[in-house]
Amino acid sequence: MSDAPRPRSGTRRGFLDWLLSRTLTTWILSTSLGGLIVAVIYPVGRYLMPPASGESAASSVTLPYTPDELAPNSAKIFKFGNRPGIIVRTATGELRAFSAACTHLGCIVQLREDLGHFWCACHNGHFDLNGVNIQGPPPRPLDAFEVNVRGDQIVVSKGA
Ligand code: FES
Repeated sequence: MSDAPRPRSGTRRGFLDWLLSRTLTTWILSTSLGGLIVAVIYPVGRYLMPPASGESAASSVTLPYTPDELAPNSAKIFKFGNRPGIIVRTATGELRAFSAACTHLGCIVQLREDLGHFWCACHNGHFDLNGVNIQGPPPRPLDAFEVNVRGDQIVVSKGA
């Protein structure tokens, strides 16, 4: 157990020294163990448990700009719940929206006007304006959203 000296028999001073050293040893051991638990187990537990808000529960979002603010062959990033989306107006004037998270490792794609399609800068992934992966490491198309124009509002929804 403890290497603390036994109380000298019969003296009050010896008993107090012995008691103090035992208490101190117990306190050091218990705080060290507590510190170890807090320093190791808590971060590991937090790492293993998923965050409370993983997937967005939002099924539609009204964009903060009007259809006229999107020129042909341009795109804007928007927030869809806690995820990024991208809306593009094609050269022919059609509005299309997708998840802006690259299907490779989740970087945010952008419209390359010079190429006429979406591009992911992280690993040179390319997607056409239908969201289809056409070059590079992305394994599948971008998730497509439904776009509805209601007056001056653009409403983007997840598909059924
Ligand atoms: S994350 Fe987009 S190509 Fe790798």
